[in-house]
Amino acid sequence: MWRCPSGLLLLLLLAGQGALGARRGRWRRELAPGLHLRGIRDAGGRYCQEQDMCCRGRADDCALPYLGATCYCDLFCNRTVSDCCPDFWDFCLGVPPPFPPIQGCEHGGRIYPVFGTYWDNCNRCTCQEKGQWECDQEPCLVDLDMINAINQGNYGWQAGNHSAFWGMTLDEGIRYRLGTIRPSSSVMNMNEIYTVLNPGEVLPAAFEASEKWPNLIHEPLDQGNCAGSWAFSTAAVASDRVSIHSLGHMTPVLSPQNLLSCDTHHQQGCRGGRLDGAWWFLRRRGVVSDHCYPFSGRERDEAGPAPPCMMHSRAMGRGKRQATARCPNSHVHANDIYQVTPAYRLGSNEQEIMKELMENGPVQALMEVHEDFFLYQGGIYSHTPVSLSRPEQYRRHGTHSVKITGWGEERLPDGRTLKYWTAANSWGPSWGERGHFRIVRGANECDIESFVLGVWGRVGMEDMGHH
Ligand SMILES: *[C@@H]1O[C@H](CO)[C@@H](O)[C@H](O)[C@H]1NC(C)=O
Ligand SMILES: *[C@@H]1O[C@H](CO)[C@@H](O)[C@H](O)[C@H]1NC(C)=O
Repeated sequence: MWRCPSGLLLLLLLAGQGALGARRGRWRRELAPGLHLRGIRDAGGRYCQEQDMCCRGRADDCALPYLGATCYCDLFCNRTVSDCCPDFWDFCLGVPPPFPPIQGCEHGGRIYPVFGTYWDNCNRCTCQEKGQWECDQEPCLVDLDMINAINQGNYGWQAGNHSAFWGMTLDEGIRYRLGTIRPSSSVMNMNEIYTVLNPGEVLPAAFEASEKWPNLIHEPLDQGNCAGSWAFSTAAVASDRVSIHSLGHMTPVLSPQNLLSCDTHHQQGCRGGRLDGAWWFLRRRGVVSDHCYPFSGRERDEAGPAPPCMMHSRAMGRGKRQATARCPNSHVHANDIYQVTPAYRLGSNEQEIMKELMENGPVQALMEVHEDFFLYQGGIYSHTPVSLSRPEQYRRHGTHSVKITGWGEERLPDGRTLKYWTAANSWGPSWGERGHFRIVRGANECDIESFVLGVWGRVGMEDMGHH
């Protein structure tokens, strides 16, 4: 025998009345699937309570915006469709909601399970049991607030999102993208060479090594997440200088990996190294080309031992050396060893650095890299104060080394003239100005004029003959 529960009867009656009374105004609410069925649920949200809103019967304007939809705080919301605000039952009726709360969190129109995660730039967000996201709070290498502040601040350079840095923390940038150990004070004071300008000698307003020595100046490489700028900047300067001093008879791209893997005395490969040690190795042992001994790259957080040294050389007399191993790359047979003469330090003086650069080729410079440098996309860089007002963990710096290739000056809209160096970094060709950057000259910006080295490629008569 069929028995009609009185509750159901009441519900049918009310539904009938509702349909009669407000068919036109109500149809959207009636047709839409319940909010809970659409997976839209902000379990802990206070909506009716926030507005102190509870309406009897039907009241279409007894409604609130709710995660991109609308929810209601009137009794009707529970009758036909379930588009009640999440706290309607609890706040307006004093009963628990009739639907089990969905276990999960919403993000970008998707429901994630409890303990589900997504990445917000460099921070991981995890769905908590109460249906709320909790995100790590690390400073990121690409920081949108910093980018905006730099671009609005008229600092003379433009900042942007370098894709390879997106998702990295600032700490990872400092740890993995630099990698030069500051020289000890005894090295800092090494055999400084003073070039003296001849009386009446005036250096040009602009100079670029690649214009004086076409095809002998090499493009920047990418150190990836290997903190080996000590090896990259040394190999880069040596490549150019060997090419220039051999008058183009040899134009090798020298192998940073050869240094990273084989120059291990007091050096730490992709965890950092010293410039004086790198030059000592290039002089006494020499390295092969990058084709012969290619960069093996390195992933972030890669544990385990560094790759073993795959190249060795022996003395051939008169200081020259010869490889005793094949290239660690079966496609290349040319395993010539390239060497340099002892590196020399230039005076920390703009004019001396310029003169050396113009006469002998690109020089190596130590550089203190700050958090904003990673964002550089063009212009004349100087360290900005945009992070000064932020907590300390947003202001980080580390020691790096680069290749200075030229100089110039630019007239600013306000009439001032800004002098700059042009330099090659080792963050690949898509960073900065095609892998290069310009930085303020004559003010020891970021210590760039404090420790500058030059070297001579070791070139014998026999090198000038063949090839
Ligand atoms: C609301 O709807 C649920 C499920 O349809 C039902 O169990 C509950 O009794 C209703 N509450 C009220 C106050 O109408
Ligand atoms: C930054 O670049 C990355 C990689 O190209 C991209 O996924 C990300 O959405 C960019 N971020 C912003 C805010 O533009």
